[in-house]
Amino acid sequence: MKVLVIGNGAREHTLVWKIARSPLVDDVYAVPGNAGTGKLASNLDIPLTDISSIVGKARELGIGLAVVGPEAPLAAGITDLFNQTGIPVFGPSRAAARLESSKAFARDIMQRNDVPCASGKTFTSYSEAKKYIEAHDPPIVVKADGLAAGKGVTVAKTVDEALAALHSIMKDRAFGAAGDKVVIEECLLGKEVSLLAFSDGKNVIPMVPACDYKRVADDDQGPNTGGMGSYSPPGFFDQKMTGQVLKDIITPIVGAMAKEGSPYKGVLYTGLILTQQGPKVLEFNARFGDPETQVILPRLESDLVEIMLAALDGRLDRKKIEWGSDACVGVVMSSGGYPGTYRTDLPINISDRLEKDVNIFYAGAVKRDDGKIVTSGGRVLTLTATGSTLKEARERVYRNIQYVDFEGCHFRRDIAAREVT
Ligand code: AMP
Ligand code: GLY
Repeated sequence: MKVLVIGNGAREHTLVWKIARSPLVDDVYAVPGNAGTGKLASNLDIPLTDISSIVGKARELGIGLAVVGPEAPLAAGITDLFNQTGIPVFGPSRAAARLESSKAFARDIMQRNDVPCASGKTFTSYSEAKKYIEAHDPPIVVKADGLAAGKGVTVAKTVDEALAALHSIMKDRAFGAAGDKVVIEECLLGKEVSLLAFSDGKNVIPMVPACDYKRVADDDQGPNTGGMGSYSPPGFFDQKMTGQVLKDIITPIVGAMAKEGSPYKGVLYTGLILTQQGPKVLEFNARFGDPETQVILPRLESDLVEIMLAALDGRLDRKKIEWGSDACVGVVMSSGGYPGTYRTDLPINISDRLEKDVNIFYAGAVKRDDGKIVTSGGRVLTLTATGSTLKEARERVYRNIQYVDFEGCHFRRDIAAREVT
């Protein structure tokens, strides 16, 4: 079978890496891909925004399974387009992806189904939203309704900060139409964890839990990024808690989506905060998480392609998934200056002393015509290592980070540190 992976981040490199190991797979393609996917797959030079050309190319190549990485093509309806051409595609429809592409939709379906989430309200009127903020004590969270490349959420410590965020979303239209609606909610306190699950529209199978780190610098200082590292499993989130989230959150949401005519097929990512009243939903994503995928898939022992095909056939109730007991830690190496401005086209040097089994999952990295792999984005790669404990995995990844280098590179030194000290 030929498999096409859509996207160009470290998440997609990890997907290609795992998919290429499946005995069911003959060839893997990535669109547009990066330097990492290019080692294992054929990269296709089509922009992610051109979904009809992507689907057209998939048909021409005889693709047997398409796997969608990022949210933008899902929200643009790439799954619906694949379905029209009869090419099996792993990823939710445009209507089902509203769980991510509209925070107002997600809030509404959670509230109607008694799924625990932050208290709050959705507004289409700037003045009503302003009144609501002024009537509530900070901290308070202001969110643009639509996709905003991870930048649409402000956890405001003061009323002024919340009002500034509201103004930027609704008046300055910083995120365009994504700011037609705004969600304002209470600030939840507690540890944050990501629980991803495979869904076939009716049945769900959870993955192992993971934690990601969003701030650029150690001790969660500095601005938010696309993610600076991750690890799995978090010691504070056991199987019983996974069972609870499945029962109270994921199963009711998947059931409600089916009942309301938008069955959810694909990966449902639930971002949670473990509050004193129990786990509450922060957000849903309609896809694999980045950088969570880089530490989750190395722990998956089962064939990912088999799981995806079972999900598409509505057969997940008969599927058993095996996970390894090893822990995994991933550290993102980013360009100096990210998430602000940064240089690109800097050669990435890998020493041959890098231990085998330490994985480099590339993101903003491309292969130049001269064969050299150079930086091309803010987050350049995720370095991951497994170990029999988180401590061992963490030591291994940091011991090896010296063997990967590019000018000005930056990484956090505290990924998974809270689990081992
Ligand atoms: P999101 O874009 O929805 O993933 O939100 C980005 C980040 O904002 C989350 O990972 C949380 O750290 C934080 N956040 C979002 N909603 C809340 C909330 N209600 N309370 C506290 N933190 C939040
Ligand atoms: N790790 C958060 C996300 O994938 O959106």
